[in-house]
This record gives sequence, structure tokens and C-alpha cells, in this order.
Amino acid sequence: MSEPVSFFISKFRDLLAEKPQPLRYFRPRPYRNAAVRFCASRIEDFDKRRAVVEETGLNVFNFPARLIPGCDLLTDSGTTTMTIEQWSQLVLGDESYGSNEGYFDLKNQIPLTFGPAWAQSEKDRVNFFIFHQGRAAEHSFFGLLAGELRRKAPENDRDIPKTLPPVLKARIESRLEGMRHPYFIIPSNSHFDTTEGNIEDSRMIPLNLPAPEHLENDENYPFRGNMDLKALEAVLEQLNSRVPLIYMTITNNTGGGQPVSMENIRRVSELARKFDVPFFFDACRFAENAWFIQKKERGYEKKPIQQIVHEMFDYVDGFHISFKKDGLVNIGGGMAFKDDGRFVRKHPDFWMKMVDRQILVEGHPTYGGLAGRDLKALVEGLKLVVTQEYLDYRINQVGRFGERLLSHGIPLVRPIGGHAVYIDLDRFFEGTGAKDEDFKGVAFTALMLIAGHRMIELGLYAFGKFKEGKEIPPNPRVNSIRASVPRLAYEDQDLYAVAEAARILGEHRDRIPAVEVVYGRGLFLRHFKSRFRFKS
Ligand code: F0G
Repeated sequence: MSEPVSFFISKFRDLLAEKPQPLRYFRPRPYRNAAVRFCASRIEDFDKRRAVVEETGLNVFNFPARLIPGCDLLTDSGTTTMTIEQWSQLVLGDESYGSNEGYFDLKNQIPLTFGPAWAQSEKDRVNFFIFHQGRAAEHSFFGLLAGELRRKAPENDRDIPKTLPPVLKARIESRLEGMRHPYFIIPSNSHFDTTEGNIEDSRMIPLNLPAPEHLENDENYPFRGNMDLKALEAVLEQLNSRVPLIYMTITNNTGGGQPVSMENIRRVSELARKFDVPFFFDACRFAENAWFIQKKERGYEKKPIQQIVHEMFDYVDGFHISFKKDGLVNIGGGMAFKDDGRFVRKHPDFWMKMVDRQILVEGHPTYGGLAGRDLKALVEGLKLVVTQEYLDYRINQVGRFGERLLSHGIPLVRPIGGHAVYIDLDRFFEGTGAKDEDFKGVAFTALMLIAGHRMIELGLYAFGKFKEGKEIPPNPRVNSIRASVPRLAYEDQDLYAVAEAARILGEHRDRIPAVEVVYGRGLFLRHFKSRFRFKS
């Protein structure tokens, strides 16, 4: 018999190992509230919200956040509740125009977070570029890259090798319309919509090559964000001169917030080396991806997150990032090139163009469109985001929210990803007679807003296109609603209230009305701008 105090300690320890159960918590949050914000509206105001939802054309982007009393799950981007350590850095911000304090702090932090290879090795050659958010980095980078490639490349025809697998051939052909020659393709596990938009805007072709298990809905595939290696190899083999870069989004936001395994990263990097093509990350949720590697991939269980992150970034030649996600800040983005990487070798002067672009559109490169205080808060965010306590709590909370939805019969994309749960609309509406053109996902999000919570349709409307009077669904087909969980903002109780409202919709799914598009169906990036109304 152990002495009594040790006995109780061992009992307390056992408690932590118990599986989460409804309304029972064994582990407190690893933080406490330092400040809170009361909601400006009441959950009971259903009729008021209905009027505003209808007035704003059922478009969730147009609904005033002030009128959301529940959870605003529109995005996990820029919605992080910062820590008091970060707030203290805002107060200490140095707002000098050139070379402010935060700039040097960030420059020191980058190799600590991403690995020593990301330190600037040559005095004059800049390797890290600050932008005000992720898409600003994408826009500058892809625009400049397309210009450079076209200048260097000999005029090519539009031919696509006949030996390319027919599905890939068809996918590239469908994108060639309106593209300049010679054409260039940027393959990825799945590009995020702004990345895809920026590649298209530069008249290049984004090509999504998600691994085949991407379409399975099976818990046995923990890394559904992976890239299809066979398809990538076919593209590299047959279209090598047209592929200036391989991209990989970690975690794979479009696919369901799903992680990519270290093995897949390694294998893509081997193909990149074999075909001499630079390999980049879209690294927005790099720490969440590393957490999944630690939890689900053999050999990584005991490795600290920071070490896993370094290994991931060893495999790439560059990355762009929105710090609004795993930078744990409300604004900020960046782009990095590895000094001895393949990209710098192939484009040795590219960094100068990036610096010029920063000066033209963002400001001096030492602040890149951000206030000095933002840079300091970011440095704190980059330290916190790789801690075990933060990530365990963060990703397990998203998991608990998902489990709660599943227990109410709401079908989700599984396994549940890192920053969001994705409701599988095809399965949700199965057997109700819903047609693609009813856009019932849009109706679902409008009804959830009336219930008091905000989510977003990322499916047939967001990713589909309307061309020559015909609706073209996304290929590969994606049809979901995303409920992203802002970092450090909500408690489980809040998320469980969302699950209850979704349960009501699930129980009466055959009564969810179709919507008609009132404005914007044929527009580029249409889901940001369209208006709808419920069909009676
Ligand atoms: N890449 C990924 C994978 C993203 O998720 C985002 C933004 C961006 C790039 C662009 O970054 O917003 O700073 O310009 N995703 C947000 C979202 C908007 O809701 O998922 P940004």
C-alpha cells in the first residue's frame, strides 16, 4: 500500500488518461482568461438575425459580426485571441520606419522556429520577406515568377503529351483556356482558394493532386492531406519544363484541414530533387501539421514539436505563410527562400525583385506592411505555437467539437483535421433529393447564422464555376461546410451549443430550402461577393 499522498497523486494522474466524456472534464485548459469580451447581441434575437441574413443576401461574409452571439467559425485566420505576453509586446512596439526592433526580433526568431537553414547567410541577399498577409506574399511571388519564366522560356505550343494519364490531361486542358503560352503548371496536394486565384491571375495553372485516400472517409487514413505521388511523378516526367515549382499546403485546408505525413513530404522532396524542381510549402498551419506527425506517424511520438517542424522545413526550398493562422496573430504574412535551396540556385536574383515589390506595395522591407508592434506580437506567437500544451489543447478541442457533431448524426470529413471541422454535404443531404444547383450548403450556413453562429460553405458554390450558362462542379469534387475554430477564443460549452443548432438542422434536413443566386454567379471568386435568397 503506497503512502496516502502518493496514492492520491497516482489517482489524479489516472484521471488525465480517461477518455473525454460528455460533460466531464479531466484536464483544465492550459491557460486562463486575462480579458473577456461580452457579446453585443442576444441568442434569443432569431427574428432580428433572419431579417439581417435576408437583407445581406445570405452571404455570411456580409453579416455583421456584432450580431453573432454564438460562435463565429467563419475562419481561424486572424481571429486568434492573443496572450497577454503578446499584448505586452504590442505596447513595446517600435514604430520606426526603417529597421525597427520587431524586425530584428523576427529575423532572429525565423531560424529558431523553422530551422537553422532559414537564417540569412549572405549579408546582402535577403531570404525572408514580410507582407501584410499571406495572399499579398502569394500575389507578389506568383506574379513575379510568371514574368520571369515567360521572359526566359522559348515560345512553346499548347500541346499536352498524349501519354499523360487521361484524367490529368483533361484537367490541364480545361485550365488552358485563356492562358498565355508557354503555359506553366504549379501542382499541389490542394491549393487554397487565394493561392489558386493568384496563380491563375498570373496566367499559370494550379493543379491539385490530392492523394487517392483524400476521397475516402476513413479513420484509417490519418494523413488525408497527402499528395498523390504517382500523379506528381507523371506530371514531372512528361511536363518537366512546364513545372517551375511544386507546392504543398500544410495542413491541407481545402481537403479538410488534413495533415500531410513526414513520409509524404520526404517523398515529394525526393521527386523534386530527381526532376530538379524547387519544392515549397504553403505553411499557414505548420505547427498543427507537426502535431499530427507527432501523434500519428511512427517514429515521431517522442520528438518535440520544434524538432519535427525543423525536419519538415529541411525538405523544402521555400515557403509562404499567413501568420494569421499559426503565427497566432491577427495580421501578417511572409515568404522565405532557403539560401542554398534549388529556387535560389535557379533564380539567383529573384530576391531583388521581391524587395522591389515590397517597397512598391507594402513599405520598407523591414516592416513589410505591418506595424512594428505587430512584428513583436508575432515573435511571441511563433514561440507559443510550437509548445506541446498549446497544441494538445488546441487540436483536441477541435476534435471534441467534431465528436459532438458526429454524435448528433452530422456527417463530417474524417478523420477530423486540425483547425476546423468540415461537414460532408453530399452525405448530409443524401436521400433528400437535393440537387447540386439548389446550393443547400448556402442555405445551411444562412440558417446557422439565424441560430446565432457563423460557418462557411466551401463546396459546390465556393469552388464551382458558372460558365456559358452551365454550373461546373469542382474537380475533384469538394462539397462541405467548414466550421473553423479560432485559436484560444472559445470554450467547449460554446462549441457544443453550435453542435446543438446543427443537430436541429440535421434532424430536419429535408426541410432545408434551396437557394437561388440573385447576384454574382459568374464572377471570379464568386462566393465572397454573391447574394442569394431562400426559395420557398
Ligand atoms: N494559404 C492557406 C492554406 C490559407 O488557409 C490562407 C487563408 C491563405 C493561404 C491566405 O492567407 O488570409 O493571410 O491572405 N486562409 C483563410 C481561411 C482566409 O479562412 O482559411 P491570408
